[in-house]
Amino acid sequence: MSNLEEQIRKLVEKYFNQVNIAALIVKDERAIVTLQNITENKDVTANLEKEIAALNGIKKVNIIYTSERSAPTLGKEPEMWKVSGVKKIIAVASGKGGVGKSTTAVNLALALSKLGKKTALFDADIYGPSIPTMLGYENQPVVSYDGKTFNAFEVHGIKSMSIGTLIDRDAPLVWRGAKAGGALEQLLTQVEWGDIDIMVIDMPPGTGDIQITLAQKLKIDGAVIVSTPQDIALIDAVKGVNMFQKVGIPILGIVENMSYYICPNCGHKEEIFGHAGAKETAERMGVRFLGEIPLHIDIRTHADEGKPIVEDKPDSPQANAYMEIAKKIAKG
Ligand SMILES: Nc1ncnc2c1ncn2[C@@H]1O[C@H](COP(=O)(O)OP(=O)(O)OP(=O)(O)O)[C@@H](O)[C@H]1O
Ligand SMILES: [Mg+2]
Repeated sequence: MSNLEEQIRKLVEKYFNQVNIAALIVKDERAIVTLQNITENKDVTANLEKEIAALNGIKKVNIIYTSERSAPTLGKEPEMWKVSGVKKIIAVASGKGGVGKSTTAVNLALALSKLGKKTALFDADIYGPSIPTMLGYENQPVVSYDGKTFNAFEVHGIKSMSIGTLIDRDAPLVWRGAKAGGALEQLLTQVEWGDIDIMVIDMPPGTGDIQITLAQKLKIDGAVIVSTPQDIALIDAVKGVNMFQKVGIPILGIVENMSYYICPNCGHKEEIFGHAGAKETAERMGVRFLGEIPLHIDIRTHADEGKPIVEDKPDSPQANAYMEIAKKIAKG
């Protein structure tokens, strides 16, 4: 532990008895302190922030509180949802919206399929289901042959289903939130998945109630956290990692999306948002860094057209970046 980290820990302990510091990140004169199972107190936070900011080598301070709500229920196991035929479930999550979680989820699912895994992609993002667009089944109706179970869509060799098929995108968020738990359970448990090696779940962004419900009700074997390199996204990535760890779901690693920009005309590489922030965050938190995905126009256009880059340009360096991450995930 560096001297600065030690000083920060001492300051935190001065303010809180028996504190659990879930994560402490010190980088570029910025300290991000995540406190677990402690009630937030604005005055205490302000004072603590001031004292940490006064340390030599620190300019900015963020203190994050993570709630106890998602702690594993001791004694009684919650009743789990049974997703039949599916051997392994991995969640692709992000602390923050818009970081490229769905794009990563769809390309990783296709990459896993190319590695020979029978793959399914489930879109659980009640706030912005985008997998139907990315796989091009947006306007197709959900079919049930037997009147009891739904048929999964089959696109580019993978099976898929989206919460967007049940939930009205124009409905208010509060309503969607209230309906989401039941709708997700229904879709996951009443879809004919067939024989699946790996199901990838595009999770809703953030660490709210619906994410926690999914993390507790599904037997998730591991979580991949997607982040962009900016500090603000990384702070949220830390929250995401904490949420899964609290419910006992292993973190498979962190992916840095939009890591650097590649000009499609000249191939020039530019690190617009800084470099290696996610890698350093992963190291600090003791989780694996899975790899970097460049910011490249083809990644967006191909997903928008329903043919993600791994499918449409499998030999491109961009597709290869996803393949390399998928190999690490497939190995476990
Ligand atoms: N590596 C990339 N290069 C270029 N464009 C990208 C990349 N990753 C994502 N995008 C684009 O950025 C936008 C946001 O990506 P995406 O929808 O995957 O994010 P998200 O985290 O799932 O967002 P939301 O929180 O809204 O669900 C999309 O237009 C997508 O095409
Ligand atoms: Mg999304």
